[in-house]
Amino acid sequence: MLVSEIRTRFREEGITPSLIADFQHHVLEFYAAKGRHDMEWRHTDDPYRILVSEVMLQQTQVPRVAVIYPKFIETFPDIYALAKAEQADLLAAWQGMGYNRRALSLKKLAGVIVDEYGGKIPDDPMILRTLPGIGPATSCSIAAFAFNRPVVFIETNIRRVFIHYFFEEGGIVDDCELLPLISAMLPANSREWYWALMDLGTALKASVKNPNQRSRQYTKQKTFEGSDRKIRGNVLKKMLERKCGSPDVFATEMNEDPVRVRRIMDKMADEAFFVRESEHQYRLSGRSLDESNTHQG
Ligand code: ADE
Repeated sequence: MLVSEIRTRFREEGITPSLIADFQHHVLEFYAAKGRHDMEWRHTDDPYRILVSEVMLQQTQVPRVAVIYPKFIETFPDIYALAKAEQADLLAAWQGMGYNRRALSLKKLAGVIVDEYGGKIPDDPMILRTLPGIGPATSCSIAAFAFNRPVVFIETNIRRVFIHYFFEEGGIVDDCELLPLISAMLPANSREWYWALMDLGTALKASVKNPNQRSRQYTKQKTFEGSDRKIRGNVLKKMLERKCGSPDVFATEMNEDPVRVRRIMDKMADEAFFVRESEHQYRLSGRSLDESNTHQG
């Protein structure tokens, strides 16, 4: 079915049963032929494993998650293992993923699930949303992928699909125009449907000018080069190797402004990555210095 035909039918007749059936058929046919069926987290119904994958996929691309995820699951095979993880081991297992705060949130979340939910991950998105590091989209993606719940939600790939198929070029589209469409198009099997939408949204990146540029909610990705995020990543890597360090030393090694590196490390200390023992000594959280010294070299 042609995109122009869908757009015309939607513009002239709105959401009709035949448009719903045809669109569902189109998306699921794409998925059967070109879906990414090899992702490990699509071959489990263990809510813990699915939750971990969804948090990883929030801000990291599929190929990178595919490399790091298996080892992470091997290291922390269930919610109990994650809840009692050593912070240094956790951050080491997260290396390469970026946005490392997510790893700390994930451990906090595991603690809450163990202490307050008897180790069982809730299936209700309203409850999932109250957990550390889980926003509106992730709460729904977990509910759909782990529990096949009929949730209606939007994230970047879903947005790309609905803007591309239903809205003419030239206009700006708000998420509030998309949500009724996403709701109307949802079939009984929400798990397979959202897998399909995410894969179609990813495939569109290669074939059309990014439809999300027409979204009112569109935000351009910041460049990594020269960013605080890049320095945070490098600092954490050094701290994981050495267990302790000084902003001035790291700044020299990275050829960065010491004031900037100190500001970044102070923020990371506030976020509980490090303990600030003195102006020149920051230590990785979770282990005593004596113990960490034995891990050096
Ligand atoms: N498959 C399952 N969850 C996904 C996600 N969040 N992004 C892309 N593909 C997925």
